[in-house]
Amino acid sequence: MSSNGARSFAIAPGARIKVAPGAPLQGTVDVPGAKNSVLKLMAACLMADGNYVLSNVPDIEDVVTMSELLSSIGLVIEHHRDTQELHITNNGNLQLFAPYELVERIRASVNVLGPLLGRFGEVRIALPGGDDFGSRPIDMHLRGLTELGAQFEMRHGDIYARAERLHGTNITLDFPSVGATENLLTAAVFAKGSTSIENAAREPEIGDLCNMLVAMGADIEGIGSSTLVVHGVERNALRAVHHTVVADRVQAATYIAAAAITAGEVVVRGAIAGHMEMLLTRFTDMGVVLVEQHDGLLVIGPERLKSIDVVTLPYPGIATDYKPLVVAMLSVAEGVGIVTENLYPGRFRYVDELQRLGANIRTDGHHAVVRGEAKLSGAPVRAPDIRAGAALVVAGLVAEGETIISDVHHIDRGYDDLVGRLCTLGANITRL
Ligand code: UD1
Repeated sequence: MSSNGARSFAIAPGARIKVAPGAPLQGTVDVPGAKNSVLKLMAACLMADGNYVLSNVPDIEDVVTMSELLSSIGLVIEHHRDTQELHITNNGNLQLFAPYELVERIRASVNVLGPLLGRFGEVRIALPGGDDFGSRPIDMHLRGLTELGAQFEMRHGDIYARAERLHGTNITLDFPSVGATENLLTAAVFAKGSTSIENAAREPEIGDLCNMLVAMGADIEGIGSSTLVVHGVERNALRAVHHTVVADRVQAATYIAAAAITAGEVVVRGAIAGHMEMLLTRFTDMGVVLVEQHDGLLVIGPERLKSIDVVTLPYPGIATDYKPLVVAMLSVAEGVGIVTENLYPGRFRYVDELQRLGANIRTDGHHAVVRGEAKLSGAPVRAPDIRAGAALVVAGLVAEGETIISDVHHIDRGYDDLVGRLCTLGANITRL
């Protein structure tokens, strides 16, 4: 992968972030493109030959890793950081293989399965392992693809998938899995006949993928709903396109949380309120004032946040990815909040780190009881994953003294210059 206008990424494993309390955050911050969209759009470039341009691409490590994976398959990828674009060429000369050393680094690598199987009728992909928040099986992906006519065989840790030509069918997902919906959708684009996917995930990033596929020539109905109907096209019927990546609702939520916790006043430019309605309602319940503007959201934090109870659910519910931010906010809110995790039972590991900052949190199974403290106190902590890392930064904005966050490479996977953006809002934060 070549890069132009590069901001060099200091991803030394030893990189740390130092943060201390300062004045309430003030100013305007731009929301970058969504990690959970761009990685899938990149995989969709396997589906037709030609020259693609993806715009509003976030400068994050996961884009670099996904580029390595797709380059190893045969795409030619240039990352133009100065214009936030990826220029991707698919010359049709692809290796239908995704190796373990790349698959294990990035969950979204599993998204090559649908495009390659649908278009070429075969693919070999290393079975992804678990990750920082537990076991992440792909049984729903494989079951749905089997219903479309694929056959699978496991050998030496790799999945060998085959199908002469997939055929349309009716699939009902047990659970609205984001990844399974995406793989079934992309595979069904090339199936013979029509496929309906019931109980499909409805996340805005899936809508973004559908919109790109439609621009490429796919025939998809029900975009944004829980029933997607895909009318299959011929394997050579799609064309390369120029597509703009949707704004990242989790990065947007991070700047809203940072503004709110510091009693700041910030415009989060590019935030799409319609993509985070439930979360914004709950932030309002916590005392945050949110005003929708033509180009984003004005956020005004209260003197002190109020506690609420929160339950994570598939979209349009409150996303599991927001949860560490909410727990960080509850740590200093007035009262007691109960947070229930319904997607990843093991996803409370960062609580230990927040406790090091003085947070009063008790976990029991998939519940966390957070008793708001008047003050947190800065300490060295470790970022256990992307979202939890960002939540520790947000907590550090109000923890007395210095908070030093290590394992920052997790944050770099999904945040485009978190430190720089918080600096422009006046935060007392540096990357070491
Ligand atoms: C995506 C997001 C992730 C987000 C998650 C839920 C990307 C790269 N990641 O992950 O940030 O937290 O959606 O919003 O977009 N499951 C199964 N079998 C399957 C598939 C999923 O049991 O075949 C389970 C998972 O283990 C998990 C739950 O279903 O407990 C949700 O998974 P899913 O919606 O598929 O999330 P991902 O696509 O992996």
